[in-house]
Amino acid sequence: MKPFQVKNNVTWVGKTDWELRKFHGEEYSTHKGTTYNSYLIREKKTVLIDTVWQPFAREFVENLKQVIPLEKIDAVIANHAEVDHSGALPELMRHIPDRPVYCTANGVKSLKGHYHADWDFHVVKTGDRLPVGDKELIFIEAQMLHWPDSMMTYLTGDNIVFSNDAFGQHYATESLFNDLADQAELSTECLKYYANILTPFSKLVAKKIQEVVSLNVPIDMICPSHGVIWRDNPLQIVEKYTKWAGDYRENQATLVYDSMWQGTRIMAEAIANGIREADPQVTVKLFNISHSDKNDVMAEVFKSKLVVFGSPTINRGILSAMAGFLEELRGLGFKGKKAAVFGSYGWSGESVSMMKGMLEAAGWPVYPEMLKVLWNPDAEGIRLSREFGRKIAKDAA
Ligand code: FEO
Repeated sequence: MKPFQVKNNVTWVGKTDWELRKFHGEEYSTHKGTTYNSYLIREKKTVLIDTVWQPFAREFVENLKQVIPLEKIDAVIANHAEVDHSGALPELMRHIPDRPVYCTANGVKSLKGHYHADWDFHVVKTGDRLPVGDKELIFIEAQMLHWPDSMMTYLTGDNIVFSNDAFGQHYATESLFNDLADQAELSTECLKYYANILTPFSKLVAKKIQEVVSLNVPIDMICPSHGVIWRDNPLQIVEKYTKWAGDYRENQATLVYDSMWQGTRIMAEAIANGIREADPQVTVKLFNISHSDKNDVMAEVFKSKLVVFGSPTINRGILSAMAGFLEELRGLGFKGKKAAVFGSYGWSGESVSMMKGMLEAAGWPVYPEMLKVLWNPDAEGIRLSREFGRKIAKDAA
């Protein structure tokens, strides 16, 4: 995508990565690609906010040269040192080595750690200002949203918040303005991003939103570092974050299971029927975690009030896809949901108690009864599973 005007003297100079399918190594699926948003502000002073991921460093710098001679850049703002935003800094700074780099104290540690460079770092804190002519940049630390070094930058006059990762999405689109995007896709990607990246920091999200609101500054645009720019009703994404940060749940029950010889799958379907019988209004979704995208399933778990986990017993434990999913779930720290566990077994049958223990260690309330069915469920096993579904649905209602 070519550079385009965001507002007045602010230009997008980032990179749209249509090909990306995995982010954070193999940790996060990006079905719709992503963008690395970098912004050039040309007032009396010229300032660049963030760069792009390292594989695109040369392309980024070459494209930037088409927009402005690099020596005209007066300062660089590094809102966040993670390599998807700082990866092109070494290539850029090779051309302008004496330009100041504004970031938080943790940003200095992180940038030095990544690149072993000693650029002219200027440490900033919340409320610090950098005049760029008639307008000013105001820095707002955003520690743990989502890294210790994260910050946001506000441009007075244009009333733009450059929010870095917060309010972003991994979403490549032809036009990077929120009102021009496919609204269903945008909504899905925003929620998935929040659920998989930001939920561990929900309390801080709520606090930071309050802090920014209390500054009482006008906000005409929110420019994150991934995905669309919020220009149409920009506070809509702030309102969504406020909702999501508050132990979010919809009227949904999600069954996440794995199965070796179909016994646990048959139980899952019978439990789902029991849930529907007890709570006809609830949306019920089933996922075999071995066959499903874990980040998409995590977004469904985030939306749920009840999550039911199933695994047969293998080697006195649980299947590996379920073990990995539960480990990820532990780290995300979802709140305000109820869980239940089930599984088929042939010999020792430890899977249910193991899942219950892992969930409780992660802070989840787990329904006290654990449903185990020996071998492949017969009519009685299916009846017990339906009954279990009715009981856990009533408990979660
Ligand atoms: Fe988009 Fe935390 O990097």
